[in-house]
Amino acid sequence: MHDFTQPVQTHLITPARGVGGSVQLPGDKSISHRYALLSAIAEGTTRLTNFSTGADPWSSLGCSEALGATVVKHGDGTVEVTGTGGVLRAPSAALDCGNSGSTMRMLSGLLAPQAGTFTLVGDLSLTRRPMERVRTPLSAMGAEISLIDGHAPMVITGKPLHGTDYTTPTPSAQVKTAVLFAGLQAEGVTTLREAVRTRDHSELALQAFGAELDRSLSSVTIRGGQKLSAIEATIPGDLSSAAFFLCATLLFPGSSLIFDLLSMNPTRAALLDVCTSLGGRLSVLNLEEQHGELVGTVQMHAPEGGMGGTVISGALSAQIIDELPVLAAIAPYTRTGIRIRDAKELRVKESDRIALVAQNLRAMGARVDEFEDGLDVPGGQTLHGAEIHPNGDHRIAMAFSIAALRAKSDTLIRGAEAAAVSFPEFFTMLDAVAVR
Ligand code: S3P
Repeated sequence: MHDFTQPVQTHLITPARGVGGSVQLPGDKSISHRYALLSAIAEGTTRLTNFSTGADPWSSLGCSEALGATVVKHGDGTVEVTGTGGVLRAPSAALDCGNSGSTMRMLSGLLAPQAGTFTLVGDLSLTRRPMERVRTPLSAMGAEISLIDGHAPMVITGKPLHGTDYTTPTPSAQVKTAVLFAGLQAEGVTTLREAVRTRDHSELALQAFGAELDRSLSSVTIRGGQKLSAIEATIPGDLSSAAFFLCATLLFPGSSLIFDLLSMNPTRAALLDVCTSLGGRLSVLNLEEQHGELVGTVQMHAPEGGMGGTVISGALSAQIIDELPVLAAIAPYTRTGIRIRDAKELRVKESDRIALVAQNLRAMGARVDEFEDGLDVPGGQTLHGAEIHPNGDHRIAMAFSIAALRAKSDTLIRGAEAAAVSFPEFFTMLDAVAVR
């Protein structure tokens, strides 16, 4: 297993004058995870086009394979998964979740009702991340899960589960997914309630694979004992990966970029509203739906007079949690700055993203104030190039590559290989659209 906290590659970012052209993003990471895992318990062969190229969803596919599914990758990037029909095999070796919190948390729900003992491990970063949040609701359903001080390795001893009615204390699509995947295989009915509506890819994926759900704006109910059937799907481009290029566009008056076949799922699209609130002008063409997921072609134009500023707090922070690092990284170039609050979860992502964003912004000469649940980044600043230390966190490596485009001098990203966790093509695509 690669330890991304040990930097290997460096990448030099030279300042740019603008960005232009069009990009087609690899498949959405969140949707890829769900399709990879559900296809393993479905009956038949699932065919997935534009599956994510990131290491994380491949951790999910690797686990599906170890659990008895057959995974075939074709030369055109299509992935075929032949499912087990519902009964997974307990492998003798540990299931390697790599750097992926999504894999470990979602898998916990899938495996808790399966027969056998399963050990889930991950890299150093994943081993530091909180797992009690899935053990609590799954235990209430009858699961037997052991952790070490709330962390991986996670050992699951499969047990028959019963339905539950659970309200997530912190908004989390991963926890919601673990409960729904367990509920699908439990006796009776499971209801999951959330105060803030988190991304709904699991609900849509379960329905796509043939499960019936009852949904309201704040709850999902699933009946146990439903069987899933294979699907054929093209996965929409990843909006969280697009975030880096959307933000790059906003940096340069006169720039615009087209995003083909981009995910437009409304539970993810708040990022586009934030880009608009910073002054970006957006047009959406060809909106279509597949398996409940919206996909469209998006064109983003930079604000003519430069970016204004904005406040991100409350439910919005939870909805764009993965995009906050890049928004903070471009904030010094706004007129009035960006204030981020209610984002304490950033501290328990692949790294402490509040601390790392502040540290790397300061390395580039920026003023920034750090709070327990966010950051204040004043606008009107000029940054210089610097050495960036992402500590193995893919989103930090990419966020500061974008900030570096408007810096006065070159920036060196240490441990640039971390980008591959979600977006291996990032640096090549950035070079292709940057105007220098
Ligand atoms: C994800 C949900 C979010 C997000 C993560 C992917 C998902 O995590 O940060 O990158 O695919 O469900 P939480 O659900 O823990 O907030």
